[in-house]
Amino acid sequence: MGRIPVKWCLCLYLYLSSYLTVTLAALSKKTYIVHVDNSAIPTSFTDHIDWYSSLVKSVAVSTEGVNDEEDEQRLIYTYQSAFHGMAARLTEEEAERLEGQNGVVSVLPEVRYELHTTRSPMFLGLETQDITSVWSDKLTDHDVVVGVLDTGIWPESPSFNDTGFSTVPPHWKGACEVGRGFEKRHCNRKIVGARAFYHGYEAATGSINEEKEYKSPRDQDGHGTHTAATVAGSPVHGANLLGYAYGTARGMSPGARIAAYKVCWTGGCFSSDILSAVDKAVEDGVNVMSISLGGGVSSYNRDSLSIAAFGAMEKGILISCSAGNGGPDPVSLTNVSPWITTVGASTMDRDFPGSVKLGSGATLKGVSLYKGRRNLSPNMMYPMVYTGSNSSSPDPGSLCLEGTLDPHVVAGKIVICDRGISPRVQKGQVVKEAGGIGMILSNTAANGEELVADCHLLPAVAVGEKEGKLIKQYAMRDPKPTGNLAFYGTKVGIRPSPVVAAFSSRGPNFISLEILKPDVVAPGVNILAAWTGDTGPSSLETDKRRVAFNILSGTSMSCPHVSGVAALLKARHPEWSPAAIKSALMTTAYIHDNTYKPLVDSSTGGQSSPYDHGAGHINPSRAVDPGLIYDIGAQDYFDFLCTQGLTRTQLVVFAKFSNRTCKHTLAGPSDLNYPALSAVFPEDKRVSSLTIHRTVTNVGPPTSKYHVVISQFNGVDVKVEPSVLSFTKKNQKLSYKVTFTTKSRQTAPQSGALIWKDGVHKVRSPVIITWLTPL
Ligand SMILES: *[C@@H]1O[C@H](CO)[C@@H](O)[C@H](O)[C@H]1NC(C)=O
Ligand SMILES: *[C@@H]1O[C@H](CO)[C@@H](O)[C@H](O)[C@H]1NC(C)=O
Ligand SMILES: *[C@@H]1O[C@H](CO)[C@@H](O)[C@H](O)[C@H]1NC(C)=O
Repeated sequence: MGRIPVKWCLCLYLYLSSYLTVTLAALSKKTYIVHVDNSAIPTSFTDHIDWYSSLVKSVAVSTEGVNDEEDEQRLIYTYQSAFHGMAARLTEEEAERLEGQNGVVSVLPEVRYELHTTRSPMFLGLETQDITSVWSDKLTDHDVVVGVLDTGIWPESPSFNDTGFSTVPPHWKGACEVGRGFEKRHCNRKIVGARAFYHGYEAATGSINEEKEYKSPRDQDGHGTHTAATVAGSPVHGANLLGYAYGTARGMSPGARIAAYKVCWTGGCFSSDILSAVDKAVEDGVNVMSISLGGGVSSYNRDSLSIAAFGAMEKGILISCSAGNGGPDPVSLTNVSPWITTVGASTMDRDFPGSVKLGSGATLKGVSLYKGRRNLSPNMMYPMVYTGSNSSSPDPGSLCLEGTLDPHVVAGKIVICDRGISPRVQKGQVVKEAGGIGMILSNTAANGEELVADCHLLPAVAVGEKEGKLIKQYAMRDPKPTGNLAFYGTKVGIRPSPVVAAFSSRGPNFISLEILKPDVVAPGVNILAAWTGDTGPSSLETDKRRVAFNILSGTSMSCPHVSGVAALLKARHPEWSPAAIKSALMTTAYIHDNTYKPLVDSSTGGQSSPYDHGAGHINPSRAVDPGLIYDIGAQDYFDFLCTQGLTRTQLVVFAKFSNRTCKHTLAGPSDLNYPALSAVFPEDKRVSSLTIHRTVTNVGPPTSKYHVVISQFNGVDVKVEPSVLSFTKKNQKLSYKVTFTTKSRQTAPQSGALIWKDGVHKVRSPVIITWLTPL
């Protein structure tokens, strides 16, 4: 999507320059999401939509030359399922006036969201054998529908083959919307629904150019096809990308149905469209929603996606969202609401090795997905060049940006480029256009040793920061540097794995420290899945290659893994609430890699913490039988919000259906029955003891006895009461409390775990203890 905003800015610039700026400022309308308290409808109205229109009309300033027809178009969406309200075109002044109207709860500006992919085919391959094999007896058709909010779907992909599927589930009320390139026949028993949402997008950016873009559910970008296939793609034998990651590709829940909601267009994804999709998906009857998108979040009540997700949760729908690609910076998470399942990314045990051979005799390892006819001859050494001036720190000349490479300098050579600023695949294109014959893409301090192998247009190897430094030093010191590149295909059994991806967004959760986020990590690095027939694997316009499968990385890829596994759990346990499914995923997650050591953080090479991996890496085969679950109902989440200092009006946006009120059932936010425990000691040093309450539900054998095991923490004594839980019935609930007593306040958060064991099940909750310090 990197190149798109440029076009968009250009349009905006042309628009601006053709009007008087002064007039424009006063008149310019933007889209606002308006949350309405439906119970405040005046008796003079029988229809909510009429009332909404009249609310907008009542604040609208009639402007010269603006006719009624244009006023009619101010209302672009109404929302009735996930929450109540509308999206409307308003000037800033009008929006302010609307906020004061009776029945209007909040007026939030449209937010642009981004897809959470790094577009980085990188090292570990697809294989999810370990995840699906356990379920192979369960690969039967079932009635779970997963709504995927993304860039649409490419229905011809073999991943959406519906052979063997029974008819569409009776609860399904969705639609198959037609448009350019998408007909009724494109929906089948696998793709049971497809819709497109663009009113907000068009209001913000102008009409979609239908010659260039499908104004229909058809996916031009590839991202939506990739995520949908990861959730629920049918098995496809012999799937691969140019020979890489060869094997059987299948979604996590191959028997589930897919409903595609296209909310992202070439210029971005807009909140009014996303909300309309969530609203419709609730009405349509999806069971799980997979949302690999994120935007800026400041608070629960100002995050429209969070509000809509609350409404969906009330209807029993699990919402799985990507955590974001803002890592390794701390506090970089998005989608942190406790009723959302927030998914970080980790690696798998596959790699695509490549190497760089230098004229000095040294050989350095890297990764590559290159496959093409322009292969370098293996027995030759080729001239090499680095256009930067410092091998230790990247400089502008070394980034291979568009228009910066002099063909006289680089033609016929292998060019060393530093990562940063421009998309990695674009650097390859720049080198190729300037006549370069190969590229070495070097990480900088920002990426460390985390390797990213992309589907470049020319022979290329990506190397870590250390290797990059050695290569650059050689290229700068040697008067006639030479080198060659080699590619070794796909390698499995990489150790250690999984490893938390450097790009995966990190906690702590800045809105509520008491809710540990992310919830879990799942494969999000080098995921092979179905691709669009409309765009090449590098996503570059100049890439004329067409592939059925592509390899991508990002929390965008890890989110649909969890959505798919959630669909499997829903099929197995239809009575489980969204919180129960999340609890099962979290309490069975593992925190060790395939060398039996604690999960490593790729950005540091050291041990990762719950702020990086949450409860750990999902373990689907155990999640199906978790023993105990931490259940949470809609009222509990509401009572949690009641602890968050929101005003009554701010709370109303979450209370639309049932007239909820604060029941004050929680002593504090830490008491939300979350499957993770976070004890937060206030600045006040006199508070040396905190108690957290939890209730577990027995979903294992009726008679079972659990013993608690709790980690040791620096500076804190922890006591769990009772330390034994004896169940005599299925679905029986028993409570316990954990008391944390500070012996000495620590400067760094302390983490560990609380585990209930019955000899068969291990119900593990991560525990984190923090001490607030005065700013
Ligand atoms: C779908 O799968 C079936 C069974 O594997 C196969 O016979 C059929 O050709 C496939 N259809 C398409 C359109 O690929
Ligand atoms: C190269 O960069 C390093 C690290 O930023 C710096 O310490 C060094 O002075 C730079 N050298 C030159 C020649 O600019
Ligand atoms: C909401 O509360 C009001 C006042 O307590 C009551 O009259 C009304 O019936 C309630 N509505 C619902 C849907 O519970």
